Amino acid sequence: MLKEEIDIYQRKRPKSKQLWEKSLQSLAGGVSHNIRNFGLPSIGAFPSFIHSAKGSKLMDVDGNEYIDCWNGHFAMILGHNHPIIQKVIEDRSKYGWHFGTNTENQVKLAETLIRDNPSIEKVRFCTSGTEATMYASRLARAFTKKRVVAKAKLGWHGANDTLFYDVGGIIVGKDTPGILDKEEAGVFTFPINSREIFNFIQKNATDLAAVILEPVLGGGGGFPVDTDFLKRLREETEKCGALLIFDEVITGYRFSYGLLQNDLRIFPDLTTMGKIIGGGLPIGAVGGKKEVIALATPGMKNQVLIGGGTFSGYPLSMATGLKTLELLKESNEEYKRINTEGTKLQQELDQFFREEMLPIVATGFKSIIMLHIMSKWVEEPTIKEIIELTDRKRESLLQLALFNRGIIGLHGLGSLSMAHNQSQILQLLEIVKEVATPVTKSTIE
Ligand SMILES: Cc1ncc(COP(=O)(O)O)c(C=O)c1O
Repeated sequence: MLKEEIDIYQRKRPKSKQLWEKSLQSLAGGVSHNIRNFGLPSIGAFPSFIHSAKGSKLMDVDGNEYIDCWNGHFAMILGHNHPIIQKVIEDRSKYGWHFGTNTENQVKLAETLIRDNPSIEKVRFCTSGTEATMYASRLARAFTKKRVVAKAKLGWHGANDTLFYDVGGIIVGKDTPGILDKEEAGVFTFPINSREIFNFIQKNATDLAAVILEPVLGGGGGFPVDTDFLKRLREETEKCGALLIFDEVITGYRFSYGLLQNDLRIFPDLTTMGKIIGGGLPIGAVGGKKEVIALATPGMKNQVLIGGGTFSGYPLSMATGLKTLELLKESNEEYKRINTEGTKLQQELDQFFREEMLPIVATGFKSIIMLHIMSKWVEEPTIKEIIELTDRKRESLLQLALFNRGIIGLHGLGSLSMAHNQSQILQLLEIVKEVATPVTKSTIE
């Protein structure tokens, strides 16, 4: 199967091939984000280069069209080139796009986040989720005057030095050269939904500044965290004077209008945000208890220095973020639709894989759907088994087979946006079912 798929893929992508060869000369590994090669070089192929987008579709430089499930790293919940957001960009940019000053929309976006979410009392904007989680950790250490930050294993909080330990997706089980060793860095990592962290909290209460995790592990593989586990984390961190930080860079405004914590009724001390709240332009934000965020106030005694950033509070991002939230506020039915469709897609795929005894698992939550291929079939595999048995080459073959059939996904699929219609979602189901057997059964060496 592999050879055939590569032949078809290459034949239809001469321009992408040429661009990839040039990229390898000028960019580290040909990319500006490690996962944007879609794993394809590992099986002798190359990523497609995208030229344009509209609604649920992406078009590459060779004229191939795709249903997009990657959705710009989960950011494009309204779909691509939403006409109202496009108009905001056009209208705002007439007045200029980077001033290095405060703007009215920055205040309005902060007020919106505060109004929508009970745990957000004050906000600081930056340009990425990576910065936001780094700042949240620093604020927590400064506020508690304690040292250790505990993070979930597989949790992906961006590539900052503070939290780049035991991350999922990009590297599993080994830390990158160039960062401090975990103990030296004051980081502890724990598996989700397990007692280990509670034992750690009890033993290390005097040294623990914060616990940070995503309520649904995103880059780590689409694993929802048990609500009871999150509740207990809330109680235990409160008891020992550590801050609880929810990283809602993916989950914020993804499943309903607001942060996922509002639906769960579990409120952390700090929350990091990004992606959707920028409406498709670069953004990050750290928000939460005012006494913690206020430590960043310039000029105050013992000010915590966070938030440089030439492009922090970027004017166009503030404008597109604000308009996106306005549109999402009126999108309850659409939220319900993609949540229901996503759950159904995940369940139907999972049932199919089980009935056929294929070593694939569909994970996710509501509109997030990811696919994991394992080296052998396991009935009801645990997260640990899924990760340990991951067959990366076959996962890359799956992405290639999907590209060839007009679907762009990452982590298998990724997410649904409000631009996906029912017939496209059905297409996703049918195509994944069609390729699942050959992808898992053919020889790939
Ligand atoms: C949960 C989570 N936190 C933080 C980040 C980092 O955000 P950014 O890529 O904007 O730096 C990501 C990015 O994928 C993420 O998924």
